[in-house]
Amino acid sequence: MPSRDGVGMPMWLLAEVTYRCPLHCVFCYNPVDYAKQHQELTTEEWKRVLRESRELGAAQLGLSGGEPLLRDDLEEIVREARSLGYYTNLLTSGIGMTEARIAALKGAGLDHIQLSFQDSTKQMNDFLSSTRTFDLKMKVAALIKQYDYPMVLNCVLHRYNIDHVQQILEMAEAMGAEYVELANTQFYSWAYLNKDQLLPTREQVEHAELVTDAFREKVKGRMRLFFVMPDYHATRPKKCTNGWGNLFITVQADGTVLPCHVAGMLPGMTFPNVREHSMEWAWYDSPGFNRFRGDGWMKDPCRTCPEKEKDLGGCRCQAYMLTGDAENADPVCDKSPHHERIREVVERTKLAVNEQPIVFRTDRDSRDLMKQCGEG
Ligand code: FES
Repeated sequence: MPSRDGVGMPMWLLAEVTYRCPLHCVFCYNPVDYAKQHQELTTEEWKRVLRESRELGAAQLGLSGGEPLLRDDLEEIVREARSLGYYTNLLTSGIGMTEARIAALKGAGLDHIQLSFQDSTKQMNDFLSSTRTFDLKMKVAALIKQYDYPMVLNCVLHRYNIDHVQQILEMAEAMGAEYVELANTQFYSWAYLNKDQLLPTREQVEHAELVTDAFREKVKGRMRLFFVMPDYHATRPKKCTNGWGNLFITVQADGTVLPCHVAGMLPGMTFPNVREHSMEWAWYDSPGFNRFRGDGWMKDPCRTCPEKEKDLGGCRCQAYMLTGDAENADPVCDKSPHHERIREVVERTKLAVNEQPIVFRTDRDSRDLMKQCGEG
């Protein structure tokens, strides 16, 4: 299908096939009110999403969650995706992966598995996810190698584990990882609730980056390392999702279609659901997808900023979370009149003691948070 009215095609489809998850990660990026989504799309509905998105131009499929392995029909979804010509990525904690399952996924044509670890130590891995899963993840890492997949390891960094970057990389090397993504926590959803506990100091981030650079030299040609900086230590915002409704399309477990994984929290906006609308209508015609396309929505300082093409004003969700208005400049930008909000959080990283209790992702907390927002 050709692009329409100057709007490009969605290249990446992120299918959040379930929000069920055995882990309780403190930095989980699922919406904090995920508990309201009990009506997951059926297998046939997912197949329709895949078909319609492929017709729109999507070529890369991320199967994510929650824990996507909790869907018994994952193999069927993968098989359909491969037959449609997608490159298929499974983003998993590894929990639920057995030899039978990985063999079935391989048979269905799965191209790529990204395995997440919380840390290089069993103690911290298990604490951060509030589960005893470290040993299981090690077994899954071995299965991934055994089944001839490239080993792609993801570790979310934050104040509790960022000083272990050397050990995390050594663990990855010992596993035979080809790719390692060290992604500093970005503060959305559950991570936003825990930002005062999770944001590392600037010194920690700088040190971790130096360690990564040195390791990159050592493993040149064998391993590729990616180090993603945390927004809160930057002075210019990221071009979030490469532009609103520009490249990425997300379908949530209940069929809600979003331009990014957390846009559903923005007040006063409605997003389409695949049970009522086609993917084509969602992408090209829905008010939600058109709301922040391009730069027509901008006000100052973004509207007149010479750098506006570079970052398109940053992240709409971050602007809303930190200023209460999604039309504002992302306060990560030091030209934003709200940049102080970021500086305050960064300043608090210098305090030795943090009194606030850490919040683990749980169904009960999700329901409580919904009630607090008047949705329960
Ligand atoms: Fe929603 Fe950035 S996460 S626009």
